Amino acid sequence: MDLKGMIREVQDFPKEGISFKDITTILSDKDALRYVIDQMADQLEDMDIDVIVGPEARGFIVGTPVAYKLGKAFVPIRKPGKLPAETVKYEYELEYGTDALEIHKDAIKPGMKVAILDDLLATGGTVLAAAKLIEGLGGTVVSLNFLIELSFLKGRETLKDYNVKTLVSYDAE
Ligand code: PRP
Ligand code: MG
Repeated sequence: MDLKGMIREVQDFPKEGISFKDITTILSDKDALRYVIDQMADQLEDMDIDVIVGPEARGFIVGTPVAYKLGKAFVPIRKPGKLPAETVKYEYELEYGTDALEIHKDAIKPGMKVAILDDLLATGGTVLAAAKLIEGLGGTVVSLNFLIELSFLKGRETLKDYNVKTLVSYDAE
């Protein structure tokens, strides 16, 4: 399947000069949706994993169906203040200011083997923060899987200590 042809590129969103990769055109096509979930699940099929983790919001869209397909559980990572029980937080630097993500403290047990799924690898900051949360709870991050990679932003360098897999890569803006 021509995934690149299915991903809508919206120019100058969310700001001038950015070519936004819009996955809603994949989600709204039943064959493309099935293909993407099947491909992401195939990349993990032979791996020893206990749980799939996905960061809000688009990580939920790809993470939960892949977990279902592999017969694994799903754990959400959310923006601060959204998870109701006891959480741990990881703060990270953005170009201007900081951002933070949270996970339920009891969601990852020491020794658990975790795959993190998200729709897009850009700078790698989001998924690095997710990995740090999991490791802080004693889990091991065995795989990072994305639908799209913006390789010109060099997220793989940020994630160099991890096993990264992507389905589609863009080498220029
Ligand atoms: C987008 C995307 C990834 C992240 C990638 O999420 O879904 O999670 O950015 O960027 P990075 O590699 O530079 O961290 P966004 O924060 O826009 O929020 P959303 O998933 O809630 O739409
Ligand atoms: Mg996201």
